[in-house]
Amino acid sequence: MAEEIRIVLTGFMGVGKSTVARHLASMLGCDKTDLDAAIADRERKSIANIIDEHGIDEFRRIESEVLGAILESGARIVALGGGAWTVPANRRLIKDRKFTSIWLETSFDHCWLNIVNSKRVRPLARNKAETFRLFEERQKLYCLADWHFVVRSGLNSFEVARQIAEEVFSLEFD
Ligand code: S3P
Repeated sequence: MAEEIRIVLTGFMGVGKSTVARHLASMLGCDKTDLDAAIADRERKSIANIIDEHGIDEFRRIESEVLGAILESGARIVALGGGAWTVPANRRLIKDRKFTSIWLETSFDHCWLNIVNSKRVRPLARNKAETFRLFEERQKLYCLADWHFVVRSGLNSFEVARQIAEEVFSLEFD
């Protein structure tokens, strides 16, 4: 089945893209790649440092470059950063490289809770009201993904990965 697995997971900060990607990769028996981690590795800096020191436009430029390299590299499951999908050129690239996109949707409150409880610094989520505006603004773009899974509060990342494995890859569980 590995040849057919080419997916990107998108969704707002704090929805749990990386964790769902990790569970899904283990269910499907393939590797997963985390776009933010790949950027931080390449730049030898945290995402927060890149954005704070060089600005969001430079971060987006690096993000697109690293995304292109990942999609070319034979990656199977890619967890995007929450803003990567909002860039039209990135969406085109994902489509051109024949990756299926999956939007993990959840409520703002769920995301916000995860954001404030996380050790990771997210420069674009420092203020609740502004983060909520960003969340609302992006819904129409996340909607453009091929698949859409709602992460209900109480449903853990493992169960979401399982739903994706069943519905997108027809995997059967006992
Ligand atoms: C961003 C989301 C972050 C990270 C960067 C910008 C965004 O990733 O890429 O801080 O624009 O939504 P997560 O979605 O993993 O937090």
